[in-house]
Amino acid sequence: MKVHVANHPLISHKLTVLRDEKTDSPTFRHLVEELVTLLAYEATREVRVEKVEIVTPVQPTTGVKLAHPRPVVVPILRAGLGMLEGMSRLIPTAEIGFLGMVRDEKTLKASTYANRLPEDLSGRQCFVLDPMLATGGTLVAAINFLIERGATEITAICILSAPEGIAMLEEAFKDSGVPINLVTGALDERLNEHGYIVPGLGDAGDRLYGVV
Ligand code: URA
Repeated sequence: MKVHVANHPLISHKLTVLRDEKTDSPTFRHLVEELVTLLAYEATREVRVEKVEIVTPVQPTTGVKLAHPRPVVVPILRAGLGMLEGMSRLIPTAEIGFLGMVRDEKTLKASTYANRLPEDLSGRQCFVLDPMLATGGTLVAAINFLIERGATEITAICILSAPEGIAMLEEAFKDSGVPINLVTGALDERLNEHGYIVPGLGDAGDRLYGVV
């Protein structure tokens, strides 16, 4: 698995405001969108393109456009929905599939309550959006859905990640034969006893949608 941890002062600055418990929901949502757009720039470095002939006002030339089949973007509800706008801004023509997953706060196990993915993902590059890579349970389940439907390359975009989650992904997909990438804004210290990322930012869904 390829892991890219953003190392950029603008991303670190925005993450610091995001983490601050005094940051309100509207600011939090806005920052998540901006951070995703910045992370998506790195995450789409290998997105497939094809040649296209165009004519500039000066002369004909060859350029590129996003190749078909188009990439698929999969936000994991609820918190991943807050990342969709920032991602769509960068690749507006991507197809979007949805996964609704919830983590049991006691067992920390993920269960799926909605699956609206395209039936056939053969040959598709997929981008999964989940702000917090904590235990890794949710992302492992989501990536397995994509592999089952034939996805050929999967990149997870996470605002924050814990070492425990990265280790779980590495182990789960070491023999999958499907390239898995992770692009994350920061690698935090660890998980606490409740499965929250430390220092983290709290519950991303609650902070996005004004529950706190
Ligand atoms: N999900 C969150 O929203 N926050 C965490 O710290 C871990 C999982």
